[in-house]
Amino acid sequence: MTRKLDYLLDRNVAWSLAKTRDDPAYFRRMAEQQSPSYLWIGCSDSRVTANDVLGLDPGEVFVHRNIANVVHTSDLNILSVLEFAIQHLRVRHIIVCGHYGCGGIERALSEERSAMVDHWLQPITMFHRKHRAHFDRLSSRTALLDRVSELNIEMQVRRIATMPLVENAWSRGQDLHLHGWIYGMHDGLIRDLGPHVSSIEERDALPSIDQRVFHAEEPASGLRRHALEAFSSLKLTDDLASPSCCMPDEH
Ligand code: CO
Repeated sequence: MTRKLDYLLDRNVAWSLAKTRDDPAYFRRMAEQQSPSYLWIGCSDSRVTANDVLGLDPGEVFVHRNIANVVHTSDLNILSVLEFAIQHLRVRHIIVCGHYGCGGIERALSEERSAMVDHWLQPITMFHRKHRAHFDRLSSRTALLDRVSELNIEMQVRRIATMPLVENAWSRGQDLHLHGWIYGMHDGLIRDLGPHVSSIEERDALPSIDQRVFHAEEPASGLRRHALEAFSSLKLTDDLASPSCCMPDEH
């Protein structure tokens, strides 16, 4: 039996040496203070680590994770994280990032009710039950899980937007933006789902989460956004080359 995790400590030494070799002042800088611009609220899933998927160094993103990235407004843990992030670190962006293939979402939609996690996931379970008639019309189990995962993120962003901590920051004029994202295990890409909320007015203008159930939008990854931009500039070039190609004859 391995009683000590020496092999992990060895890996840590190798990592620390490599960091110092590349950048001798790295740890001196890290020890001074953290000043991240982002708070990441994600799933505890071991495959979705904020720094890795965003390509950020330690010190650049403040992180809170739990099963299925649920925001309970009475959870002391997330409230403390939010307070520290907003009032002391003064992060500019709060990102709720879920992921496709989330075991937490699958559990919330199952009939299992025997563990503590079923209490934790109850808002998702209740949301699914409320709209069951609609969800049952989706084409497959995967489509259902994907859609509930997306809506769960939107629901959590809305919850953060109603928190007094966040409202007070906006009332003080603090620059604070909320984002809803989802990560695809199968391609390593994050999709921007929204909503994007930067003020009390924007929050109050959002359609309710119940309305959103009936109006699915295709989430766009950064890669897709690049492709669309490339396509639209290509189209513009074509139009310039032959301006009359598609115009009706006005004569
Ligand atoms: Co998950």
